Amino acid sequence: MLILGIESSCDETGVALYDSELGLLSHALHTQIAMHAEYGGVVPELASRDHIRRILPLTRRTLEEAQRQLADIDAIAYTEGPGLAGALLVGTGIAHALGVALSIPVLGIHHLEGHLLSPLLSADPPDFPFVALLVSGGHTQLMEVQAVGRYRTLGDTLDDAAGEAFDKTAQLLGLDYPGGAALSVLAETGNPLRFRLPRPMLHSGDLNFSFSGLKTAVLNLTQKYPAISDRADIAAAFQLAMTDVLSAKSVAALKSADCKRLVVAGGVGANRQLRAALARSVREIDAQVYFPELAFCTDNGAMIAYAGAMRLRYGGNAPGPFTVRPRWDLETMDSPRSRG
Ligand code: KG4
Ligand code: ZN
Repeated sequence: MLILGIESSCDETGVALYDSELGLLSHALHTQIAMHAEYGGVVPELASRDHIRRILPLTRRTLEEAQRQLADIDAIAYTEGPGLAGALLVGTGIAHALGVALSIPVLGIHHLEGHLLSPLLSADPPDFPFVALLVSGGHTQLMEVQAVGRYRTLGDTLDDAAGEAFDKTAQLLGLDYPGGAALSVLAETGNPLRFRLPRPMLHSGDLNFSFSGLKTAVLNLTQKYPAISDRADIAAAFQLAMTDVLSAKSVAALKSADCKRLVVAGGVGANRQLRAALARSVREIDAQVYFPELAFCTDNGAMIAYAGAMRLRYGGNAPGPFTVRPRWDLETMDSPRSRG
């Protein structure tokens, strides 16, 4: 079976071809970061318009690279939600139009299911069950992944996503959007112990997060210490606070799920200090941490094609109507195994 995957939920257009026998054949991505940078964040209307421009050329490129024709495709998987309504509609529209033209099934995929299954695309995939720490510009989730279609939310953010917290803090420090990576470079030159920032919800007794208070604490600090020479120390203090909270909650999640495998996904997973802290704290409880290739951790079409292939294999998610779900709770989905 050859599955075309289409991702357009936010600011990345991703297209991929996954063959259920041969694996991932090709994938292509266009990121809109440069376009949104001017506005300091994602502008939904611009995102939708850019998806329209990119999606067909990316589909053509993906087919060419895989040396396949449109007529070879057996099914189309697209991100149905959650995400920006207009952006989702672009992928949904193309998927359904192609589905009708080619007379093949079209499957709406939950974006988070794509993320949760994406580690299985990597060269060294983890076995089930595993706990996933999903930390990107839009998500901060701790999920238990027992099998395809069996997901349990262990923790979530009550306000900002982890990447959003990095980006907003970076903005306070005068760095360009999205400033997470630049902040971490700046932090390497600073002293993380000069300022002590709060570790929000570290002892909340649950696995949830909250980052907006930390952002306010940074704001206060930048007002008190406005000199450019203080910025590296502030960045380092912020990064340490984030790292402490994310690694402590990840370890607590592994313990609560009685699981020995942690998978880290999302752009913030690229953070070197976070990686080092997670590796250290997971080792202490005799568990293992996986950092799949970043190309599959951030938004991409391959994870959607793969989730589509799994849904077809296990018989779940019957081809659906033309719809998008900007808000969609992953736990309300059917397990494909229970149907198939
Ligand atoms: O998963 P991702 O590429 O995409 C979306 O959220 O759409 O994540 C992007 C987020 C941004 O907030 C970015 O600033 C953050 O990941 N990020 C980082 C690093 N690299 C990217 N945050 C901290 N440290 C990094 N090295
Ligand atoms: Zn995502």
